[in-house]
Amino acid sequence: MIKDPGSRTQIHDHAHNWTLYGVLDGHETIERYERIDDRSRPEYADIRRTENVKVGPGKVDLVAPYQIHAEESGEERTVAIIVRAEKAGGFLQGRYDPATKNTGKATDRSRFPTNWNRANSRAWFSFVVILTSNL
Ligand SMILES: [Fe+2]
Repeated sequence: MIKDPGSRTQIHDHAHNWTLYGVLDGHETIERYERIDDRSRPEYADIRRTENVKVGPGKVDLVAPYQIHAEESGEERTVAIIVRAEKAGGFLQGRYDPATKNTGKATDRSRFPTNWNRANSRAWFSFVVILTSNL
């Protein structure tokens, strides 16, 4: 994944998936959040930031299932690899808005070309396996 300078993701989770996020080039800040509501209302989530984690080349961040977070690239382009049980866009992510305290679910297809398909996923997974096996 390549992120332009100044890009920032929405606050989200990766649902039930474990994710390895490995930074190859550039630096990012990963914001982590926790829920402070009692989870009794389905479209309501009160969250607060718990930490900012700086990541750079060689750093691999482990994102646990349902861990709420956002990534910000800062002033430079970043390049990262993602290893996850399911491809992005193939499952519903949790989305969080701390201002309105609304939460919902959405896919993440906007981060990939519109012609992204299963063949591309297999090619990308193979690339990641080859790359990581050489580390
Ligand atoms: Fe994420």
